[in-house]
Amino acid sequence: MSGFAHRTVLRDEVVRALSPRDGATYADVTLGGGGHAEAILSAANCRLIGLDRDDAAIAASTERLEKFGDRVRITRGPFGDAANLLPSGLDGLVADLGVSSPQLDDASRGMSFRRDASDAPLDMRMDRSTGQTARELIASFGEEQLADVIFELGEERASRRIARSIKRAEEAGQLATTGDLRHAIYQAVGGDKRSGIDPATRTFQALRIAVNDELGELDRLLSALPELLSPNGVAAIISFHSLEDRRVKRAFADGATWAPLAKKPIEASPEEIVENPRARSAKLRAARRKSATEAEVDPRAAKYAARRARKHGSGPDRGQGGPS
Ligand SMILES: C[S@@+](CC[C@H](N)C(=O)[O-])C[C@H]1O[C@@H](n2cnc3c(N)ncnc32)[C@H](O)[C@@H]1O
Repeated sequence: MSGFAHRTVLRDEVVRALSPRDGATYADVTLGGGGHAEAILSAANCRLIGLDRDDAAIAASTERLEKFGDRVRITRGPFGDAANLLPSGLDGLVADLGVSSPQLDDASRGMSFRRDASDAPLDMRMDRSTGQTARELIASFGEEQLADVIFELGEERASRRIARSIKRAEEAGQLATTGDLRHAIYQAVGGDKRSGIDPATRTFQALRIAVNDELGELDRLLSALPELLSPNGVAAIISFHSLEDRRVKRAFADGATWAPLAKKPIEASPEEIVENPRARSAKLRAARRKSATEAEVDPRAAKYAARRARKHGSGPDRGQGGPS
């Protein structure tokens, strides 16, 4: 395999949630290195449609999944556009949110605040063919708006001081690289590690989430899910940020559409966390799309189905066909 070194998080737990069946069709909308996709395709004689918006991930997963031949179809694109990129009638779907280790580790992507990545341009886009870079985004924000983003998406309490320092560096023409950004953050809050994490961590995370519109993408995926899955199809979503997990939890709480497989999110075992510290903050939530029969007996579901039928001109169980 190519040098795409990403450790798959909660792999067995995702497979258990989806329970792949022969002849069924699944989607992995965050292919990355293809770890979850490979596990699903190995568990049954099923088909899988893969999606990612990152060229390097598409290349790595294409290589890794080649052995499954025409059981796999890979498409490049954002999962926020899943309603257009995927067929309906899926038996299951997995989304493993956030970034892959190679995206963080490849200094040229501009997502890393590590000292050896100091000369990387301030980019941070997962899809480098579209959208604003982190540098352009910062330029488009006023100081207050930048502080709000750093506070909300990074949960950074020193957001105002940091935003002021970043804007000052920008005005002085000293904000071109990840090293410049890190320097501006250290100027505001010092360079000492607070509670074991680098002081630049939260600001880098906030900007990455904003650059890639990660929460907007998730919202669009969550609202498309009921149309994409067939009745009894399962959605399994791994999040790494409380703002993501809250959205998934809220979506699956719609009892007219979803039957969550468990009340609490599934977390990584201590053994997995030792092997892969990134798994520490992972939360997997899985839910089954309720069937039409359940919808009939559940008055809330009937109301929801009627609302959807009015909106889309069809019932909730349209389009059972898998991929061609
Ligand atoms: C955590 S990695 C997935 C790793 C994969 N599950 C594995 O086991 O190798 C997340 C992947 O999702 C992709 N991604 C993140 N947001 C996306 C979006 N909105 N649309 C499509 N792909 C996205 C990233 O490019 C990255 O490759």
